[in-house]
Amino acid sequence: MPPPRTGRGLLWLGLVLSSVCVALGSETQANSTTDALNVLLIIVDDLRPSLGCYGDKLVRSPNIDQLASHSLLFQNAFAQQAVCAPSRVSFLTGRRPDTTRLYDFNSYWRVHAGNFSTIPQYFKENGYVTMSVGKVFHPGISSNHTDDSPYSWSFPPYHPSSEKYENTKTCRGPDGELHANLLCPVDVLDVPEGTLPDKQSTEQAIRLLEKMKTSASPFFLAVGYHKPHIPFRYPKEFQKLYPLENITLAPDPEVPDGLPPVAYNPWMDIRQREDVQALNISVPYGPIPVDFQRKIRQSYFASVSYLDTQVGRLLSALDDLQLANSTIIAFTSDHGRQSMDLVELVSLFPTLAGLAGLQVPPRCPVPSFHVELCREGKNLLKHFRFRDLEEDPYLPGNPRELIAYSQYPRPSDIPQWNSDKPSLKDIKIMGYSIRTIDYRYTVWVGFNPDEFLANFSDIHAGELYFVDSDPLQDHNMYNDSQGGDLFQLLMP
Ligand SMILES: *[C@@H]1O[C@H](CO)[C@@H](O)[C@H](O)[C@H]1NC(C)=O
Ligand SMILES: *[C@@H]1O[C@H](CO)[C@@H](O)[C@H](O)[C@H]1NC(C)=O
Ligand SMILES: *[C@@H]1O[C@H](CO)[C@@H](O)[C@H](O)[C@H]1NC(C)=O
Ligand SMILES: *[C@@H]1O[C@H](CO)[C@@H](O)[C@H](O)[C@H]1NC(C)=O
Ligand SMILES: *[C@@H]1O[C@H](CO)[C@@H](O)[C@H](O)[C@H]1NC(C)=O
Ligand SMILES: *[C@@H]1O[C@H](CO)[C@@H](O)[C@H](O)[C@H]1NC(C)=O
Repeated sequence: MPPPRTGRGLLWLGLVLSSVCVALGSETQANSTTDALNVLLIIVDDLRPSLGCYGDKLVRSPNIDQLASHSLLFQNAFAQQAVCAPSRVSFLTGRRPDTTRLYDFNSYWRVHAGNFSTIPQYFKENGYVTMSVGKVFHPGISSNHTDDSPYSWSFPPYHPSSEKYENTKTCRGPDGELHANLLCPVDVLDVPEGTLPDKQSTEQAIRLLEKMKTSASPFFLAVGYHKPHIPFRYPKEFQKLYPLENITLAPDPEVPDGLPPVAYNPWMDIRQREDVQALNISVPYGPIPVDFQRKIRQSYFASVSYLDTQVGRLLSALDDLQLANSTIIAFTSDHGRQSMDLVELVSLFPTLAGLAGLQVPPRCPVPSFHVELCREGKNLLKHFRFRDLEEDPYLPGNPRELIAYSQYPRPSDIPQWNSDKPSLKDIKIMGYSIRTIDYRYTVWVGFNPDEFLANFSDIHAGELYFVDSDPLQDHNMYNDSQGGDLFQLLMP
């Protein structure tokens, strides 16, 4: 196994708590008493809303846009922790990281925190055939080296055989040699096995759909794609969609003046790649040479377009098999970056259950370590009754209805080698963040990893950004505000 990679979007430096995009679509009305609906859950790794359906003018994503055009598209969906394993365990169990107690890659919740049910497990227990293809759970200890089999899945999960080459020397550099690079456009005929993991996953998912066509039981199929997670290893023809001269730079490349050092992500995982190492970029603040910034963005966008074609193949197969009208499609990333719907990924569990007509798990008591089946998120089903988006489904009421919570651990107050992904024992500080329609508010507080306890009277730093006047979060207003009071007011 290569070292676990936290995937983080490459293009955002300094902001650690971030949102992802979720589109949920259902082409039929759920009628649980008659026809059970199938579920296709597509999980993408590190996709920010660089998609046409989120208004991006450069990125070509026709297939995902087409799905979004007849789906409910969330504009502000937030991951509970912007790291692969904690985020996936959180939304697949419907519990927050403080309940799964997974902030790194190194523990299995069933033995470490509580024997929590998962979304696929719940569907399996309700008569569904449940199947996993590609990266759904993060591989490794965090899913007991089995993607949580046998609890979550009816069959052993599928992993593409070419996955093992993702981080190896398969990228042809300008010197003609093969390298383990960040930027890795490839000739697919030329790489080991002549294929790429996401292509294999699509093919396997289509084979499973074909089998399910005649199944008496409904299915829950989760397909986890690797791209656009780094390295950007994609068929080189996708690069042509994005000539370098057309690539814009980030509008705010500088480290903001008021950013507390604890909030800064030194992107150590990117620095390990051979092409980045050769640039000798200073640690921790950079900067990355402008030409290389452009190339990173080009390859990120090309990876998104490559991913989009895989999603297109999968959805076409669903159509061709005439399964589209009986299948709920949920499309989400584990994290990425924000783009007036304010939702959290922990709500995926109750929402999918509700859409499929299953009983929605009850709200979790506090604490809920002893409860196997409950939800910390919300059932977003009511949003689907307002298909006309001109109507406002967010009826004014309890403002807490409109808050998303996220968190991120740090080993120290200043950026260091393991700041992106500290192991549990090294966590000294936890950033807790609230996002409302109007602002993002974060406090970085002392944290005791032995007791899993945050100490809110030990504030290391704070951040406050107003969405309307500072959408890119470059002007930290924390010191100008009654920070701590606000936080106390809003903690659940
Ligand atoms: C579900 O199907 C039954 C039987 O066909 C019908 O009576 C009922 O109205 C349907 N419910 C919904 C919500 O469509
Ligand atoms: C955990 O949950 C699974 C699935 O419901 C069950 O089979 C298993 O016995 C439970 N384990 C414990 C220790 O309760
Ligand atoms: C985790 O996997 C090991 C080895 O396959 C197995 O013995 C153990 O029972 C699993 N843990 C749980 C909680 O199922
Ligand atoms: C690049 O930009 C030029 C000028 O705006 C435009 O005409 C061209 O279509 C763009 N190329 C691509 C591939 O988007
Ligand atoms: C890398 O940069 C540092 C200063 O940031 C410099 O001292 C060192 O010589 C450089 N190394 C190489 C190989 O260029
Ligand atoms: C879906 O469409 C197919 C073919 O058009 C049809 O045979 C099937 O009954 C439809 N299923 C539902 C649930 O509407």
